Amino acid sequence: MAIRRGRGATVEDLDGNIYIDFFGGAGVLNVGHANPEVLRAAHEQLDDLTHALDFPTPSRKRLIEALLPLLPKELGRLFFGGPTGSDAVEIAVKLARFNTGRIPFVAFEGSYHGMTGGALSLTSGLPFKEEFLPLLPEVHFVPYPYCYRCAFHKSPGTCAMFCVSYLEHKLSDPHSGLGRPAAVIVEAVQGEGGTIIPPPQFLPALRALCNSYDIVLIVDEIQAGFCRTGKMFAFEHSRTIPDIVTMSKALGGLGFPISGVAFKEKLNTFPRGKHIGTFRGNQVAYAAGAAAIRFMVKNDLAGQALRLGEKMLAGLKEIERDSAIIGEARGIGLMLAAEVVKDKATKEPAPEQAAEIRRACHRRGLLIEVGGHYFNVARFLPPLILTDTLAMKGLDIFAQAVKEVERSRPKRKR
Ligand SMILES: Cc1ncc(COP(=O)(O)O)c(C=O)c1O
Repeated sequence: MAIRRGRGATVEDLDGNIYIDFFGGAGVLNVGHANPEVLRAAHEQLDDLTHALDFPTPSRKRLIEALLPLLPKELGRLFFGGPTGSDAVEIAVKLARFNTGRIPFVAFEGSYHGMTGGALSLTSGLPFKEEFLPLLPEVHFVPYPYCYRCAFHKSPGTCAMFCVSYLEHKLSDPHSGLGRPAAVIVEAVQGEGGTIIPPPQFLPALRALCNSYDIVLIVDEIQAGFCRTGKMFAFEHSRTIPDIVTMSKALGGLGFPISGVAFKEKLNTFPRGKHIGTFRGNQVAYAAGAAAIRFMVKNDLAGQALRLGEKMLAGLKEIERDSAIIGEARGIGLMLAAEVVKDKATKEPAPEQAAEIRRACHRRGLLIEVGGHYFNVARFLPPLILTDTLAMKGLDIFAQAVKEVERSRPKRKR
């Protein structure tokens, strides 16, 4: 589809068709397409100053002033990076290595951290990186608490945080193949991996483990941050304080290019000039980002994401109950998903059906994303200003699309 314009939570294509947008620029457009308050700030900035490398400017100061009060006071240092989330991950990698003098990293199965050298190394999906290995050496992937498909065949009731105990085993056994890592990098809620929401005790357990081995804990909030999950940052659901937080996507307000990291003072050891770049700090993105944050706070978008997210999840759960191919509906705030399977008992992933559901949604006027380990998870990341009416209309379209695909699937032999 070729896109002409976006307004609020809708998108218009070149032929004038209007779509409900449950994709939201992959988590960028939290304040809605063409948000007038953010646009005004961007227009004003365009007339004043558009480029200043990373020199101090009023727009940079305004973004820092908007951002710092949202973060735990321990995360008092900020670096802004190049245009994409991957750039923030690269800064985090450099900070962790520089401060620990260590090489290995731990990342999680199902992780997505971006496409640049370091970020791609920390991304688990082989389809993204097979041809490009090796990038960062010594990246070890361990299971994330993906309870629907637990790597240890546990169920949440019998688990006792096996993912974290397994990592502890890797750290303590001299024959595990893992040397002491510089950092563990984790998404507080995994996005591209299939909207996987860990139990609340996961991040605190990981924090405690990193403390006892003196490992830097990087929490990637590039997708889950900025009110998406019902808190300003997703790590706040578990009261864990990371050492480094990566940010991008909604940080630029309406898709203006910027990324950043917030980190603890103890890691603030880079000598001058250790991290430079021509586009480190886009003035329009600074201005739009500050306006977007003001809009998020003023309109309590975190509260709105929680309230509407609960309502939509209840609707998705009904679709799961009525369908033979939705194995699990899950979500937190307005980060929602439905995992498509061939059979609910075997949980065999159904990527073709997931792609068909996306096409059927598109034909009916709804945009969604497909992701997950097996590309079988239908994902929703709508703008957080979505109205209840559009939300329910979108869900209804999704339910029809699921029914259509279910009806057309080949009958399985018993
Ligand atoms: C959690 C997470 N980290 C990093 C990235 C990379 O961001 P970008 O695509 O802007 O480089 C993404 C992108 O989807 C993401 O979801």
